[in-house]
Amino acid sequence: MGGKVTVVGSGFYGSTTALRLAQYDIFDTVVLTDIVEGKPEGLALDMNQSRSIEGFETKVIGATTTPEGAGYEATANSDVVVITAGLPRKPGMSRMDLIGVNAGIVRGVAENIAKHSPNAVIIVVSNPLDEMTALAQIATNFPKNRVMGQAGMLDTARFTNFVAEKLGVKTASVKTLTLGSHGDTMVPVPSRCTVDGKPLSDLLSQAEIDELVDRTRNGGAEVVALLKTGSAYYAPSAAAARMAKAVIEDSGAVMPVCAWVDGEYGISGVYLGVEAEIGRNGINKVVESKLTDSEVEALKAAAEAVRAKQADVQTL
Ligand code: 2OP
Repeated sequence: MGGKVTVVGSGFYGSTTALRLAQYDIFDTVVLTDIVEGKPEGLALDMNQSRSIEGFETKVIGATTTPEGAGYEATANSDVVVITAGLPRKPGMSRMDLIGVNAGIVRGVAENIAKHSPNAVIIVVSNPLDEMTALAQIATNFPKNRVMGQAGMLDTARFTNFVAEKLGVKTASVKTLTLGSHGDTMVPVPSRCTVDGKPLSDLLSQAEIDELVDRTRNGGAEVVALLKTGSAYYAPSAAAARMAKAVIEDSGAVMPVCAWVDGEYGISGVYLGVEAEIGRNGINKVVESKLTDSEVEALKAAAEAVRAKQADVQTL
């Protein structure tokens, strides 16, 4: 293997993502950045010192950056860039409450990244996710297939965990799917959920499924309320790292991600959570699957909700 991945932002989400990527041992270099002086360098040093114990050779490089672009030379010619920069939610906040402050941060980061890594695939995880993904594409002016967001992998993993716990089965037996936005208009897709190949609706009542769907939709807020400072990062970083891995390995894996939708499900011109095939160029294609009429309607409603907000980010 080989190649270079940059993770922008050395908070818990960014640093955990960087560590997971380093431990995959598939990149030559993982670059971790932050505007807090010394933090990325210190974390990188610490991660490198774990290499002989964990058995990976990937080199982690820490680089302090400034909003004006100093320090971004360390990220030059990255193949993949994961943008975690921005503030997380506080208890009681919605992801959308972050849009004003995070738009400025994500726009600046995306412009600096585009300057130094013009061929990178960008994976956005900053919130509000669907809007920050759209903004990163505008700010980089990269082809839309080279900018995507992480949300569906995470929401799906949460749903899977809740189903496995409810039924007392292994997570490996459970397949679930969530589409739509990473927010109020998230669309869990019960018709695509199975346990050992059996439809979820054979095993749980509608009320029980609705309860798990609701918990999934509020999955991020549930963690924020418990932590009190900061938001989730173990499951989110696992999801982001898997996407970066699929890119660098050109795996063609199909995953739920936030991707530019152009006609699929009768929806066009918006970044939205859908299933997509991931490869070296980012999104190879959006994969349209069979949904029930009400699920398609919910997806269309999600598209209209995020379309309005994504139009707003152009001016932020
Ligand atoms: C979450 O759902 C951070 O938005 C992320 O936990």
